[in-house]
Amino acid sequence: MLAPAFLAAHAARVEAALAAMLDAKASVVTARLLASMRYSLLAGGKRIRPALLLECYTACGGQSASGKHTPAMQTFVIPTPVMQAALAIECIHTYSLIHDDLPCMDNDDLRRGNPTCHKQFDEATAVLAADALQTLSFELLSESNAGAELRCTLIHKLALAAGGQGMVGGQVLDMQAESGSENMDMLTVERIHLHKTGALLRWCCEAGALLANADAEQFEACSRYGKAVGLLFQIADDILDVTASSSELGKSAGKDAEQNKATYVSVLGLQRARELATDMQELAVAACQPLGRDGDHLQSLVHYIQERSW
Ligand code: IPE
Ligand code: IPE
Ligand code: MG
Ligand code: MG
Ligand code: MG
Repeated sequence: MLAPAFLAAHAARVEAALAAMLDAKASVVTARLLASMRYSLLAGGKRIRPALLLECYTACGGQSASGKHTPAMQTFVIPTPVMQAALAIECIHTYSLIHDDLPCMDNDDLRRGNPTCHKQFDEATAVLAADALQTLSFELLSESNAGAELRCTLIHKLALAAGGQGMVGGQVLDMQAESGSENMDMLTVERIHLHKTGALLRWCCEAGALLANADAEQFEACSRYGKAVGLLFQIADDILDVTASSSELGKSAGKDAEQNKATYVSVLGLQRARELATDMQELAVAACQPLGRDGDHLQSLVHYIQERSW
């Protein structure tokens, strides 16, 4: 399925702002470290998380998500709070990918169509690039032009979503499950996926709503949407691992079976995994109904996330 045009437009703006933000670090971050951060952060990627954030923001009535920044600017101007949050989530996400690919985790050679960070540089540099991207994410949120209370809420929620009770906790469950994946049940796989992937996607949707000063009903809609989309995203990732090629994905296909990963496909089979993805798609679409026509782009994103080819 073709990506909706607005996804490419968001990605272009986010890429330009990420590049400018890293350029502004040239005088303060060691060159090799900055090169490794730039290598992974600017390697492409679908930029789904920023799109979810920006679209939830707009759906809840947020104004001028794109901000004043243009790539031609010589000095880095702190973007709008919502764009700053979009940069922050890509930093956290890229850190999680660099660590996910390390030999001690999924041991992958290919990411975003290029050699993984530890292959291009070395393991120590990859670990440190990811560490630096993680703290950069919180730096960006803390210096944003949002009000102090909102900044604190976003930082707190991101710490929860990314840390031991979120993504990192999910990665541990994912690793532990490798040794017992033949006895895996659906609830356990759901738990792994909601943590390792879902938590960060849900943060994007909730952060977009909070930045737009959403009312309780809008926030709840975005939060429920984020939970369903987060799970759907990882089910689709599990399916693509067995149905797409490495060149389509820009990462090694067929790795989950090779590594005995607990996935929806390994537990339910391909057909049932697809049916479950459709159930989750319906849940996500229903979740954004309260947003009315303002939620149209969120619905397109659900379809894209399920039917994407990479
Ligand atoms: C890959 O995420 C890791 C998962 C959580 C499945 P993406 O599929 O969003 O990766 P990029 O950002 O497009 O490279
Ligand atoms: C990764 O899940 C989730 C995180 C990076 C936190 P996967 O291990 O399935 O992601 P890919 O397939 O390597 O992108
Ligand atoms: Mg993994
Ligand atoms: Mg992996
Ligand atoms: Mg995967």
